[in-house]
Amino acid sequence: MAVGPAIRRFLGPRIARLAGLWYRALFVDLAQVAVALAAVLPRGAHLLDVGGGDGQPLNHLLALRPDLTITTLDPAPFVGQWIEERFAGQVTRMPATTLADYVSRGQRSPDALLIADVMHHIPKSARRGFLDSIKVLLDRQPALRIIVKDVEPGHWRAVLGYWSDRYVTGDRNVSLISIDDLTRLFEEALGPLHCVDTHLLEKDRPNYVLAFHR
Ligand SMILES: C[S@@+](CC[C@H](N)C(=O)[O-])C[C@H]1O[C@@H](n2cnc3c(N)ncnc32)[C@H](O)[C@@H]1O
Repeated sequence: MAVGPAIRRFLGPRIARLAGLWYRALFVDLAQVAVALAAVLPRGAHLLDVGGGDGQPLNHLLALRPDLTITTLDPAPFVGQWIEERFAGQVTRMPATTLADYVSRGQRSPDALLIADVMHHIPKSARRGFLDSIKVLLDRQPALRIIVKDVEPGHWRAVLGYWSDRYVTGDRNVSLISIDDLTRLFEEALGPLHCVDTHLLEKDRPNYVLAFHR
Protein backbone atom coordinates (compact mmCIF):
# COMPACT_ATOMS: atom_id res chain seq x y z
CA MET A 1 0.00 0.00 0.00
CA ALA A 2 1.22 3.58 -0.76
CA VAL A 3 2.15 5.77 2.23
CA GLY A 4 -0.87 8.12 1.84
CA PRO A 5 -3.67 5.54 2.15
CA ALA A 6 -1.80 3.85 5.03
CA ILE A 7 -1.56 7.17 6.93
CA ARG A 8 -5.25 7.93 6.29
CA ARG A 9 -6.22 4.52 7.65
CA PHE A 10 -4.01 4.98 10.71
CA LEU A 11 -5.39 8.47 11.51
CA GLY A 12 -9.08 7.65 11.00
CA PRO A 13 -11.46 9.72 8.85
CA ARG A 14 -11.78 12.91 10.98
CA ILE A 15 -8.09 13.48 11.71
CA ALA A 16 -7.11 12.29 8.22
CA ARG A 17 -9.37 14.96 6.77
CA LEU A 18 -7.80 17.73 8.88
CA ALA A 19 -4.30 16.47 8.12
CA GLY A 20 -5.25 16.28 4.43
CA LEU A 21 -6.40 19.92 4.44
CA TRP A 22 -3.16 21.06 6.03
CA TYR A 23 -1.03 18.92 3.70
CA ARG A 24 -2.88 20.08 0.57
CA ALA A 25 -2.43 23.74 1.52
CA LEU A 26 1.30 23.24 0.91
CA PHE A 27 0.53 22.75 -2.78
CA VAL A 28 -2.57 24.80 -3.57
CA ASP A 29 -4.87 27.49 -2.19
CA LEU A 30 -8.31 25.94 -2.73
CA ALA A 31 -10.07 29.25 -1.99
CA GLN A 32 -8.16 30.89 -4.87
CA VAL A 33 -8.92 27.94 -7.14
CA ALA A 34 -12.64 28.31 -6.36
CA VAL A 35 -12.52 32.02 -7.28
CA ALA A 36 -10.88 31.11 -10.61
CA LEU A 37 -13.44 28.36 -11.32
CA ALA A 38 -16.40 30.54 -10.30
CA ALA A 39 -15.31 33.21 -12.79
CA VAL A 40 -15.59 30.88 -15.81
CA LEU A 41 -18.70 28.84 -14.91
CA PRO A 42 -22.01 29.87 -16.49
CA ARG A 43 -24.85 30.77 -14.09
CA GLY A 44 -27.01 27.79 -13.09
CA ALA A 45 -24.60 25.36 -14.77
CA HIS A 46 -24.61 21.62 -14.33
CA LEU A 47 -20.95 20.78 -13.80
CA LEU A 48 -19.46 17.33 -14.39
CA ASP A 49 -16.46 16.95 -12.10
CA VAL A 50 -14.24 14.29 -13.68
CA GLY A 51 -11.88 12.49 -11.29
CA GLY A 52 -13.46 14.27 -8.35
CA GLY A 53 -11.53 12.45 -5.59
CA ASP A 54 -12.57 13.40 -2.06
CA GLY A 55 -14.42 16.50 -3.31
CA GLN A 56 -12.79 19.03 -0.98
CA PRO A 57 -12.41 21.70 -3.74
CA LEU A 58 -16.17 21.54 -4.36
CA ASN A 59 -16.90 22.84 -0.83
CA HIS A 60 -15.10 26.07 -1.70
CA LEU A 61 -16.77 26.31 -5.10
CA LEU A 62 -20.32 25.65 -3.85
CA ALA A 63 -19.87 28.21 -1.06
CA LEU A 64 -19.25 30.82 -3.78
CA ARG A 65 -21.72 29.47 -6.35
CA PRO A 66 -24.92 28.07 -4.77
CA ASP A 67 -26.56 28.16 -8.24
CA LEU A 68 -24.47 25.17 -9.46
CA THR A 69 -25.42 21.51 -9.53
CA ILE A 70 -22.56 19.04 -9.73
CA THR A 71 -22.10 15.41 -10.71
CA THR A 72 -18.79 14.10 -9.46
CA LEU A 73 -17.37 10.84 -10.84
CA ASP A 74 -14.20 8.89 -10.29
CA PRO A 75 -12.85 5.51 -11.41
CA ALA A 76 -11.97 4.90 -7.74
CA PRO A 77 -14.48 3.11 -5.46
CA PHE A 78 -15.21 6.31 -3.47
CA VAL A 79 -15.86 9.86 -4.61
CA GLY A 80 -16.96 13.04 -2.89
CA GLN A 81 -16.61 11.66 0.65
CA TRP A 82 -15.43 15.06 2.01
CA ILE A 83 -18.22 17.15 0.49
CA GLU A 84 -20.00 18.98 3.31
CA GLU A 85 -23.49 17.81 4.27
CA ARG A 86 -24.97 21.27 3.55
CA PHE A 87 -24.17 20.78 -0.17
CA ALA A 88 -25.46 17.20 -0.42
CA GLY A 89 -28.63 18.24 -2.29
CA GLN A 90 -26.59 19.83 -5.08
CA VAL A 91 -24.19 16.95 -5.68
CA THR A 92 -24.60 13.53 -7.32
CA ARG A 93 -21.77 11.08 -6.68
CA MET A 94 -20.77 8.41 -9.21
CA PRO A 95 -17.96 6.24 -7.79
CA ALA A 96 -16.28 3.54 -9.90
CA THR A 97 -17.21 5.46 -13.06
CA THR A 98 -14.97 6.70 -15.84
CA LEU A 99 -15.76 9.54 -18.20
CA ALA A 100 -16.15 6.93 -20.98
CA ASP A 101 -18.77 5.14 -18.81
CA TYR A 102 -20.65 8.40 -18.27
CA VAL A 103 -20.64 9.16 -22.00
CA SER A 104 -21.68 5.66 -23.06
CA ARG A 105 -24.60 5.56 -20.60
CA GLY A 106 -26.14 8.57 -22.36
CA GLN A 107 -26.26 10.56 -19.12
CA ARG A 108 -27.39 14.19 -19.08
CA SER A 109 -25.05 16.49 -21.05
CA PRO A 110 -23.31 18.85 -18.63
CA ASP A 111 -22.84 22.58 -19.28
CA ALA A 112 -19.25 22.39 -18.05
CA LEU A 113 -16.56 19.82 -17.30
CA LEU A 114 -14.08 20.19 -14.46
CA ILE A 115 -10.82 18.27 -14.75
CA ALA A 116 -8.95 19.27 -11.61
CA ASP A 117 -5.52 17.78 -10.92
CA VAL A 118 -6.48 14.79 -13.06
CA MET A 119 -4.59 15.30 -16.34
CA HIS A 120 -1.20 14.79 -14.68
CA HIS A 121 -2.43 11.45 -13.26
CA ILE A 122 -3.49 10.11 -16.66
CA PRO A 123 -0.56 8.31 -18.32
CA LYS A 124 0.63 10.19 -21.42
CA SER A 125 -0.36 7.24 -23.63
CA ALA A 126 -3.96 7.33 -22.31
CA ARG A 127 -4.57 11.10 -22.62
CA ARG A 128 -5.85 11.00 -26.22
CA GLY A 129 -8.39 8.29 -25.28
CA PHE A 130 -9.61 10.45 -22.38
CA LEU A 131 -9.97 13.42 -24.74
CA ASP A 132 -11.96 11.26 -27.20
CA SER A 133 -14.67 10.98 -24.52
CA ILE A 134 -14.60 14.76 -24.05
CA LYS A 135 -15.02 15.15 -27.81
CA VAL A 136 -18.22 13.08 -27.74
CA LEU A 137 -19.62 15.41 -25.04
CA LEU A 138 -18.48 18.50 -26.95
CA ASP A 139 -20.17 17.29 -30.14
CA ARG A 140 -23.39 16.70 -28.16
CA GLN A 141 -23.18 20.05 -26.38
CA PRO A 142 -21.15 22.55 -28.49
CA ALA A 143 -21.43 25.25 -25.79
CA LEU A 144 -19.64 22.96 -23.31
CA ARG A 145 -17.01 24.70 -21.13
CA ILE A 146 -14.01 22.51 -20.38
CA ILE A 147 -12.21 23.73 -17.30
CA VAL A 148 -8.81 22.36 -16.42
CA LYS A 149 -6.96 22.93 -13.17
CA ASP A 150 -3.42 21.63 -13.22
CA VAL A 151 0.15 22.36 -12.18
CA GLU A 152 2.81 24.10 -14.30
CA PRO A 153 6.10 22.17 -14.04
CA GLY A 154 9.31 23.86 -12.86
CA HIS A 155 8.35 25.55 -9.57
CA TRP A 156 9.52 24.08 -6.25
CA ARG A 157 5.89 23.42 -5.22
CA ALA A 158 5.41 21.50 -8.49
CA VAL A 159 8.47 19.38 -7.70
CA LEU A 160 7.20 18.74 -4.16
CA GLY A 161 3.76 17.83 -5.54
CA TYR A 162 5.28 15.47 -8.08
CA TRP A 163 7.17 13.54 -5.38
CA SER A 164 4.09 13.54 -3.19
CA ASP A 165 1.93 12.13 -6.01
CA ARG A 166 4.58 9.54 -6.79
CA TYR A 167 5.53 8.37 -3.31
CA VAL A 168 2.73 9.45 -0.91
CA THR A 169 -0.26 8.90 -3.21
CA GLY A 170 1.65 6.08 -4.92
CA ASP A 171 0.95 7.02 -8.57
CA ARG A 172 4.01 5.97 -10.59
CA ASN A 173 2.47 7.34 -13.82
CA VAL A 174 2.34 10.96 -12.68
CA SER A 175 3.60 13.41 -15.31
CA LEU A 176 2.96 17.15 -15.06
CA ILE A 177 1.63 18.96 -18.12
CA SER A 178 2.40 22.61 -18.86
CA ILE A 179 -0.14 25.20 -20.04
CA ASP A 180 1.42 25.13 -23.54
CA ASP A 181 1.41 21.34 -23.83
CA LEU A 182 -2.13 21.07 -22.45
CA THR A 183 -3.46 23.69 -24.89
CA ARG A 184 -1.73 21.94 -27.81
CA LEU A 185 -3.07 18.53 -26.77
CA PHE A 186 -6.65 19.83 -26.40
CA GLU A 187 -6.58 21.58 -29.79
CA GLU A 188 -5.12 18.48 -31.51
CA ALA A 189 -7.89 16.30 -30.07
CA LEU A 190 -10.86 18.68 -30.06
CA GLY A 191 -10.13 21.15 -32.87
CA PRO A 192 -9.75 24.92 -32.58
CA LEU A 193 -10.78 26.21 -29.15
CA HIS A 194 -11.05 29.54 -27.39
CA CYS A 195 -9.03 29.53 -24.20
CA VAL A 196 -9.72 31.77 -21.21
CA ASP A 197 -6.85 32.00 -18.74
CA THR A 198 -8.06 32.79 -15.21
CA HIS A 199 -4.55 33.99 -14.24
CA LEU A 200 -4.51 31.75 -11.19
CA LEU A 201 -0.83 31.12 -12.00
CA GLU A 202 0.05 34.68 -11.01
CA LYS A 203 -1.82 34.35 -7.69
CA ASP A 204 -1.01 30.79 -6.63
CA ARG A 205 1.97 29.56 -8.66
CA PRO A 206 2.35 26.86 -10.03
CA ASN A 207 -1.40 26.20 -10.12
CA TYR A 208 -3.32 27.19 -13.23
CA VAL A 209 -6.95 27.12 -14.36
CA LEU A 210 -7.83 27.36 -18.05
CA ALA A 211 -11.33 27.30 -19.56
CA PHE A 212 -11.80 26.08 -23.13
CA HIS A 213 -14.82 26.39 -25.40
CA ARG A 214 -15.54 26.12 -29.12
C1 LIG B 1 -5.21 14.36 -7.33
S1 LIG B 1 -6.77 13.64 -7.41
C2 LIG B 1 -7.75 15.08 -7.75
C3 LIG B 1 -9.12 14.95 -7.16
C4 LIG B 1 -9.99 16.21 -7.31
N1 LIG B 1 -10.27 16.49 -8.69
C5 LIG B 1 -9.37 17.38 -6.63
O1 LIG B 1 -8.95 18.35 -7.31
O2 LIG B 1 -9.27 17.37 -5.40
C6 LIG B 1 -6.76 12.79 -8.96
C7 LIG B 1 -8.03 11.99 -9.21
O3 LIG B 1 -8.05 11.60 -10.58
C8 LIG B 1 -8.64 10.34 -10.65
N2 LIG B 1 -8.27 9.75 -11.94
C9 LIG B 1 -7.12 9.14 -12.27
N3 LIG B 1 -7.16 8.73 -13.56
C10 LIG B 1 -8.36 9.13 -14.05
C11 LIG B 1 -9.01 9.02 -15.32
N4 LIG B 1 -8.42 8.41 -16.36
N5 LIG B 1 -10.26 9.52 -15.45
C12 LIG B 1 -10.85 10.15 -14.41
N6 LIG B 1 -10.29 10.28 -13.18
C13 LIG B 1 -9.06 9.78 -13.01
C14 LIG B 1 -8.10 9.61 -9.43
O4 LIG B 1 -8.89 8.50 -9.06
C15 LIG B 1 -8.13 10.73 -8.39
O5 LIG B 1 -9.32 10.73 -7.65
